[in-house]
Amino acid sequence: MYQIIDGKAISTALKEELKEKVTKLAGQGITPCLAVILVGEDPASAVYVNNKKKACEFIGIKSLSYELPESTSEEELLKLIETLNADDSVNGILVQLPLPKQIHEDAVIKAISPKKDVDGFHPESVGALCIGQPGYVSCTPAGIIELLKRSNVEIEGKECVIIGRSNIVGKPMSLLMLRENATVTVCHSRTQKLKEVCKRADILIVAIGKPKMITSEYVKEGAVVIDVGIHRLEGKKLCGDVDFDDVAPHTSAITPVPGGVGPMTIAMLMKNCVESIGFSS
Ligand code: GUN
Repeated sequence: MYQIIDGKAISTALKEELKEKVTKLAGQGITPCLAVILVGEDPASAVYVNNKKKACEFIGIKSLSYELPESTSEEELLKLIETLNADDSVNGILVQLPLPKQIHEDAVIKAISPKKDVDGFHPESVGALCIGQPGYVSCTPAGIIELLKRSNVEIEGKECVIIGRSNIVGKPMSLLMLRENATVTVCHSRTQKLKEVCKRADILIVAIGKPKMITSEYVKEGAVVIDVGIHRLEGKKLCGDVDFDDVAPHTSAITPVPGGVGPMTIAMLMKNCVESIGFSS
């Protein structure tokens, strides 16, 4: 029988722990403050930003909300970031992606002070992760490590295959698994014999953005499968990159969609915000 890795329960436990920490900080007169910037009217982004603000409220983190029109120029956005960088009462800055096409994402990510980069997207944060120095870590991959550890999945010495090489998930995920002493393979759209490579994995992490692409043919018997994808099917039901019903019986543990990796991303953002207290001043 396989274990369903319950991201909802684990993220709730983590948020409860953070709430306790924030209550203690409040006793010392300290309240973490996150500035959340949303540009434009992308409905999915609006939902994500709202969920981030709700999580802040639950934990006791102050959130400042900046909702800018679709027509905002890069210069205007950079100016706002500059102001927030200089504001000592702001510990973390988050600019929701994607941005409207007139704004260069790279320039915006680079403009956020690495001390307030709670998303962990700044080149300095990524570089620090790469060479094992302290810094913010991208929330989704950090959340996956937390899921594995809290589900008692051993990582050290295991074969880990990651499908996807994005800056937000695949690349930092590979660095984190390496830090945990796994043997890591990163696959992508040009990888040959993908099924054979995936079949080697003790831990298979899937972030390809294609609904139900990974079937049992890709999975070694008893592997642990982590599904980062989230897609809305025509009947409105959500699914991941993994064909759960086909794959689950062949695993020892698997994350569901929804209720797996998704809730961990926000919980880890909250963790970064709490840690920003010591880092941003
Ligand atoms: N868009 C999709 N995921 C993320 C995320 O983790 N952070 C930000 N800022 N934007 C996103």
